[in-house]
Amino acid sequence: MIGRLNHIAIAVQDLAAASAKYRDLLGARVGQPQALPEHGVTVVFIDTGNAKVELLEPLGDSSPIAAFLAKNPLGGMHHICFEVPDILAAAATLTASGARVLGDGKPKIGAHGLPVLFLHPKDFDGTLIELEQVSG
Ligand code: CO
Repeated sequence: MIGRLNHIAIAVQDLAAASAKYRDLLGARVGQPQALPEHGVTVVFIDTGNAKVELLEPLGDSSPIAAFLAKNPLGGMHHICFEVPDILAAAATLTASGARVLGDGKPKIGAHGLPVLFLHPKDFDGTLIELEQVSG
């Protein structure tokens, strides 16, 4: 079902400081910050060549990562994202097997403008998994 790893998302308290570490200490290709108010985050993409790292900083009062950072004040890995060719088929297969899709169970348009859904971390060893539909 799943294809390549698309990204690993890391929640951070200070996006500028985290970006500088990846750029200056790790020598990574670090993009510019992008505010995504509809997702409650500001994001920086880091292209590692075979996948991306996304640094996520809360944006606004109802950011979905605010609670995570309250529990993990140093920041930490928030989710991993795998590509799938058909997200509706993936959701149907997973829910038929008893896995839980977060929210109303329907895909939403994610930070890359593509359909995404999230799987309950309790069903996947404590890890929040995002599936993103990528065609081709
Ligand atoms: Co993501």
